[in-house]
Amino acid sequence: MEAFKLGLFLLMTMVVSAQVQLQPPNAVVLRGSKARFNCSTTQPPPVMNLMVNDRLVLSILEASGPLNSTDRFSATNFTTPGDYKWEFVISNVQREDAGRVTCVVLGGTAQLSTLSVQERGSVEIVGGNQTKTEGTQTEFQCRAVGWFPEPNVSWSVNGVVNYCNSSSAAQGNLFNSNCTLAVTAVKNSSVQCLVSVPALSTPDSRTVFLTVEKLAKIDQTVLIAVTVAFSAAALLFLIIYGIVFFCKRRKKKSSYQEEIRRARIQSQNRTPATENVQTWDNQRYNRDGHDGRTNGGVWYTNHSNKHQMPNGFFDDGHRNHRHMTIV
Ligand SMILES: *[C@@H]1O[C@H](CO)[C@@H](O)[C@H](O)[C@H]1NC(C)=O
Ligand SMILES: *[C@@H]1O[C@H](CO)[C@@H](O)[C@H](O)[C@H]1NC(C)=O
Ligand SMILES: *[C@@H]1O[C@H](CO)[C@@H](O)[C@H](O)[C@H]1NC(C)=O
Ligand SMILES: *[C@@H]1O[C@H](CO)[C@@H](O)[C@H](O)[C@H]1NC(C)=O
Ligand SMILES: *[C@@H]1O[C@H](CO)[C@@H](O)[C@H](O)[C@H]1NC(C)=O
Ligand SMILES: *[C@@H]1O[C@H](CO)[C@@H](O)[C@H](O)[C@H]1NC(C)=O
Ligand SMILES: *[C@@H]1O[C@H](CO)[C@@H](O)[C@H](O)[C@H]1NC(C)=O
Ligand SMILES: *[C@@H]1O[C@H](CO)[C@@H](O)[C@H](O)[C@H]1NC(C)=O
Repeated sequence: MEAFKLGLFLLMTMVVSAQVQLQPPNAVVLRGSKARFNCSTTQPPPVMNLMVNDRLVLSILEASGPLNSTDRFSATNFTTPGDYKWEFVISNVQREDAGRVTCVVLGGTAQLSTLSVQERGSVEIVGGNQTKTEGTQTEFQCRAVGWFPEPNVSWSVNGVVNYCNSSSAAQGNLFNSNCTLAVTAVKNSSVQCLVSVPALSTPDSRTVFLTVEKLAKIDQTVLIAVTVAFSAAALLFLIIYGIVFFCKRRKKKSSYQEEIRRARIQSQNRTPATENVQTWDNQRYNRDGHDGRTNGGVWYTNHSNKHQMPNGFFDDGHRNHRHMTIV
């Protein structure tokens, strides 16, 4: 008797309170996209009501299907034997849809899910591509505008990601975020700014390129070295040339003066005694191995060495003496 009563009670509660499920319990979607919830019961529901933030948006009758279906709120039949399931679709989700989504089945308990609506804003790398000389410091600024909630901003330099401590500011119910990346121009790099909110399966990104101009360090040092070497060589040459020239000048000058002096002395000596000079000349002639007795032997004697004289000296001809000796 007791067991029968209990069985009857259980049967009655099973009939009366259908098991209702609303899946998923949390939905995170971007504004403008679709949000989907499955409401299912174990008992065929005479009516299933769907509410968004406590407002009834759709009624589904077991017999005829959805009532008052709109562009924004619709339902699809997914019923299988023993599982009475309808997929409730909110299209073009708006920020005001965020909150509670409830499925109420007559004779069952209301099931609640949470809907989060996020905003996808823009991503921009200020200044775009950059060209820098090797070794210089440069900055990239990523600007994420119009996101909700506060987005995560990160940089990826040649695929290496580092999280950015961005500064965000709310503008209305949206967030703007700035993030600066300081890099030293070492190699050609791709610089990517990644911005994400949970509703995005993959982050939104922008990529710019850092082109590094080589400083040509080696070339420059070579150039400098070559320049220095050449300058040094030229200077050395000039110095040596200058010294040599100076010495020559001095030697010539002194020999020139010497010759003048000698010539003067000799001409003084000869004037009173020409014989002596002739004797000297003849002696020299003989010493040179010529026959001193050659008739009509004619020769010139320069009292100074012609080859050592500067041209100007020879040109004036004063110091040339012509001797004719007939022996
Ligand atoms: C609802 O259920 C159907 C069938 O089981 C499935 O295809 C669909 O993805 C489900 N929708 C959600 C939002 O879980
Ligand atoms: C929902 O689908 C099930 C199984 O296909 C079907 O038996 C039932 O009549 C459908 N409900 C409506 C309202 O179309
Ligand atoms: C559905 O439409 C009927 C009339 O067609 C209206 O009386 C009812 O209030 C509407 N229900 C909802 C939830 O908008
Ligand atoms: C940056 O450079 C890449 C390739 O070098 C080019 O495709 C892209 O348009 C450039 N972006 C800007 C903003 O100039
Ligand atoms: C942002 O990134 C941090 C660290 O990676 C993480 O803990 C956090 O959940 C992320 N937030 C969002 C909104 O993606
Ligand atoms: C991020 O910024 C906060 C405050 O602006 C600071 O306390 C924290 O140390 C910063 N973290 C990093 C990794 O820079
Ligand atoms: C980001 O930078 C721009 C320009 O530098 C500035 O106008 C804006 O207020 C900054 N935003 C934040 C959130 O710091
Ligand atoms: C970067 O690329 C440019 C041409 O794309 C090249 O001229 C330059 O040498 C590269 N810089 C480095 C550091 O490799």
